[in-house]
Amino acid sequence: MEKINEAVKYIQSIYPEKPSVGIVLGSGLGSFTNEIKIEKEIAYGDIPNFPVSTVKGHSGKLIFGELSGKKVVAMSGRFHYYEGYNTEDIILPIRVFKYLGIKTLLLSNAAGATNKVFKVGDLMIINDHISLLTPNPLIGNNNESLGPRFPDMSEPYKKYLINKAKQIALKNNIDVKEGVYVSVTGPTFETKAEYHMINVLGGDAVGMSTVQEVIAAVHMDLPVFAISVITDIGIREGENKITHEEVLQAAKEAEPKLACIFKELIALL
Ligand code: HPA
Repeated sequence: MEKINEAVKYIQSIYPEKPSVGIVLGSGLGSFTNEIKIEKEIAYGDIPNFPVSTVKGHSGKLIFGELSGKKVVAMSGRFHYYEGYNTEDIILPIRVFKYLGIKTLLLSNAAGATNKVFKVGDLMIINDHISLLTPNPLIGNNNESLGPRFPDMSEPYKKYLINKAKQIALKNNIDVKEGVYVSVTGPTFETKAEYHMINVLGGDAVGMSTVQEVIAAVHMDLPVFAISVITDIGIREGENKITHEEVLQAAKEAEPKLACIFKELIALL
């Protein structure tokens, strides 16, 4: 709690306005911040207790401003378990967002498809998740002022937000899929056998982020909407080499569709 308060206090000393929406952007999806009428940027390195992002394609700052008539705060660059952070550090920004006053959290990520009908560039609204050995960030002492010891996870991704997003997609002729996101630690992409296993387990897409952040948000009773951009097809026959560059490129190409959904969704919040 002390760590959260310190970070919140520092941020509010620089940017006193209260954002109502928090946004976390995935690999290759950072250009969404161009949509924000920026009022303040704060580098992660300047915020007490914030970890610093190390991955190429992640710029590492909080962006405050206005979007679709709302005050928003966006994380440009997120913290991944594979970078070596502990889970508490990964979720600290989400907790800080909550104490800055956000009422809704929107997340995006790049993911590999394990659903056989998905194509590169597809958007998948996440309607549930499976954590595949990504440690639960709530392990350890529970601070009851943040949330309960045993949080309910029956609807981590709010149906009312999913329904709104689907209507927006329909109106704008954007084809959206819906499905289950499986989180893995990375940093290796999956083997063929692993992609197959994820498909058998009920996963539609797989990625290295999001789930720990969602757990932290649900713990604090913060409504979540999340969407994956399918950047590679994990489950397929024959040769299947996947590179970080290809993931970033596919995410960049699909980004305008995601931006449209996020922008219109924020207007409706
Ligand atoms: N697997 C895991 N994480 C990913 C993938 C993938 O295929 N694509 C983008 N992030």
